Amino acid sequence: MSGVEPVAGSGGGAAGAPPQLQEMLDRARGALANAHAPYSRFRIGACVRAGSGRLYAGCNVENASFPVTQCAENTAIGAMVAAGDRQIVEVVIVTEGAEPCPPCGRCRQQLTEFAGPDMRIYLCGPEGVRVTATLGELLPMAFGPRTLTRPT
Ligand code: THU
Repeated sequence: MSGVEPVAGSGGGAAGAPPQLQEMLDRARGALANAHAPYSRFRIGACVRAGSGRLYAGCNVENASFPVTQCAENTAIGAMVAAGDRQIVEVVIVTEGAEPCPPCGRCRQQLTEFAGPDMRIYLCGPEGVRVTATLGELLPMAFGPRTLTRPT
């Protein structure tokens, strides 16, 4: 299976999916395979596509001091910023669990720093895309960079 076929009722899938999606999914799966998740045993891979077209993957990195854990999206965003990109065009998140895995609240806020409300997020499982959502759907009325605009 290619991995990007639509799931009935998911609202996402191959028809409206960009051609880069399969590569993003492959990159996210590759990162998931390297996840450091000995405590939760819940491995996550993420891949962000930047405005430049470059892809950045990340996995969750857990810590014996549990709150220090870093999410997969956070890892991918950090790699993107370190490489000089500042705009996220779309995101793939892949897990092995039975349910689609939406980004946590902190990750939604981190995505908002580098993406607008129309940015698409593909929630994937081993079989492919399960759900497609926009950042605006997942984090409406977000506090973002523009909120900080002050009169000059
Ligand atoms: N996790 C992520 O990597 N991204 C999220 O958006 C939600 C949670 C990770 C953190 C932890 O390693 C594991 O999932 C279980 O919470």
